[in-house]
Amino acid sequence: MKLLVPALAELDHYAEALRRGGYFPDNIRREVSAREELAKIDADPASFVALLDDRDAKAGPVTLPDGSTVKRLPGYRRWIWDDGDSGGDGGGFCGHIGFRWQPGASMLPPYVLGHIGYAVVPWKRGRGYATRALALLLPEARKEGLAHVDLTTDPDNIPSQKVIAANGGTLVERFTTTDAHGGGEMLRWRIML
Ligand SMILES: CC(C)(COP(=O)(O)OP(=O)(O)OC[C@H]1O[C@@H](n2cnc3c(N)ncnc32)[C@H](O)[C@@H]1OP(=O)(O)O)[C@@H](O)C(=O)NCCC(=O)NCCS
Repeated sequence: MKLLVPALAELDHYAEALRRGGYFPDNIRREVSAREELAKIDADPASFVALLDDRDAKAGPVTLPDGSTVKRLPGYRRWIWDDGDSGGDGGGFCGHIGFRWQPGASMLPPYVLGHIGYAVVPWKRGRGYATRALALLLPEARKEGLAHVDLTTDPDNIPSQKVIAANGGTLVERFTTTDAHGGGEMLRWRIML
């Protein structure tokens, strides 16, 4: 398994996973985020792929769950890819892991829920992909000079909490999100780098 820089050559597999359902680019905005990305892929596939690797935050503002928008941080997405499991509609596509950060600082602005987010397609869960993807991403995060990364999970998202714990993460706090994020309870986790 490897982390791939998103590229046009594999874009059809990504779009297929979005169309199949149950897999979302944004774990909070879910179906809406999948529809938005499919529309962008239809309109301009090359730009869509290029903006997934966005260290200069060129993709423009980020839309929060309540529809408000905030300044984008530098960030990039990687596709979780397994050449050894390329049968079926999605080819070797297993999911994604994304990383965003504030240059020169380990802390995040209050409107960003975590440095790292991930999702694995439902038909390939429980095979260790997310645990391995996070392990592969952490050395890359360290290169940006961060002392730690924070991740947030729903209190009942046990699989995600296990992914974080397996990578050395510890629970920092239970907190209530801002209204823009729906005002729900979440857990904040930290991995020292
Ligand atoms: C969370 C998610 C990314 C985990 O991906 P994955 O590739 O299946 O994770 P792994 O195979 O690495 O498994 C992680 C752990 O969770 C466990 N697990 C998997 N599914 C589980 C379930 N339904 N209930 C309890 N534990 C479960 C695995 O056994 C493993 O634990 P172990 O290391 O003790 O064996 C995946 O479930 C997902 O995409 N969920 C929807 C999106 C999401 O919640 N993203 C994270 C937001 S914070």
